[in-house]
Amino acid sequence: MVASSARVQAHSFIEKRFGMALTPDFDTYPIDFTISAATAERGAVHVTWSDGRVSRFHNIWLRDNCPCVQCVHQVTKEQTFELVTVSPDIHPVAVAVAADGSLLVRWSDGDHASEFHTGWLRSNCYSAEARAERVVQRTTWDSTTLSEPPTFDGPAVLSDDAALYEWLVALRTYGATRLRNVPCTDEAITHVIGRIGIARDTNFGLFWDVRSEPNPVTNANTALPLPPHVDLPTREYQPGLQFLHCIENQAIGGDSILVDGFRVAELMREQYPSEYHTLTRTPFDWANSAKVTDYRWRSPIIVTDASGAVTEMRVGNWLRAPLDLPFEQVEEAYDAYRRLFEMTYREDLQLRSRFEPGDLVAFDNRRTLHARSEFTDAGGPRHLRGGYTERDDLQSRIRMLERAMRERRVALGNSTLG
Ligand code: OGA
Ligand code: ZN
Ligand code: ZN
Repeated sequence: MVASSARVQAHSFIEKRFGMALTPDFDTYPIDFTISAATAERGAVHVTWSDGRVSRFHNIWLRDNCPCVQCVHQVTKEQTFELVTVSPDIHPVAVAVAADGSLLVRWSDGDHASEFHTGWLRSNCYSAEARAERVVQRTTWDSTTLSEPPTFDGPAVLSDDAALYEWLVALRTYGATRLRNVPCTDEAITHVIGRIGIARDTNFGLFWDVRSEPNPVTNANTALPLPPHVDLPTREYQPGLQFLHCIENQAIGGDSILVDGFRVAELMREQYPSEYHTLTRTPFDWANSAKVTDYRWRSPIIVTDASGAVTEMRVGNWLRAPLDLPFEQVEEAYDAYRRLFEMTYREDLQLRSRFEPGDLVAFDNRRTLHARSEFTDAGGPRHLRGGYTERDDLQSRIRMLERAMRERRVALGNSTLG
């Protein structure tokens, strides 16, 4: 099970190497720390880094992540190695650090040897400390901590990657942002979403117009107030990101309201634990009343993951089907639902503003609830244009921008990779 030679110095397999160690993907890994020692002990390779940190990589984890040409297809960068082809107690027979700093391992199974790129290895360390550093920070807010959504210049975001990155990180952190000076055209929203990813088509179309219409297909296309909601709670997969672009607004009223659903959930958990619990457990029925489609979904309002963290909110008062619950759960469900709505109407939880032409509000549609107050277009028309994309499109774009930054850093020689 355990390599007998605890620490193996330069082996003949080091000499056979040529070039830098491969990495198993298309990313770039600056080398900010070097390996000062590597030893095989108790089922893992212990790596001590130049800053004193120790990483422990299980033998099977290292074998599974071998980036060599036999284990990873070098064009697709997808794995070809299959775990079942090696013994579960595979272990190193030799471990060493190469002159370029890579970790070298020769395995007990067959005649396989792996070389791990130092920068890649460090960035995949799974010590508690390293994993904590990788957690993406999200900041919940209310109107006492945030006076307006973080606001950025639309034309800058459309043309400059540094401005784009700043906006996208704010969108991920706060789940609500605003762009200003976006050209007041029907196409502008396609360009904004195109900076992130692929627009999400839905039963309301790829892009949709919000204005008061004589024959509305949804309350959104009336002048009625819209209570705090997420769009499309009626769909199995509610859009992850929503964009509302104001092209024209001469209406009286029609204020825009944003509420951080994660903050509401946080406060409910503290102040009304029993109602909170009900909303995380009780399925509500969501339905879109439409002539030509019949989308419905059943889900609790507050969705949590295995650790209990809130991952999404599913709320839309006018998009509910009748509750379908055992008789004895109905009153409890209504009480919890009422409590939630009372909270979403609290002034200290609502960010209120008026859409000016050129404003584009972008928010996490599964986190941030949005609402509008009643309006009249006696003063002139109010026209918003909306669209969606997904949370993972946002994350991919942020990672690609960060990858480009790492590439630049390495090209400029700001790491020992040179
Ligand atoms: C919608 C919506 C907000 C507004 O169309 O779903 O929430 O300000 N519109 O009109
Ligand atoms: Zn391999
Ligand atoms: Zn909406």
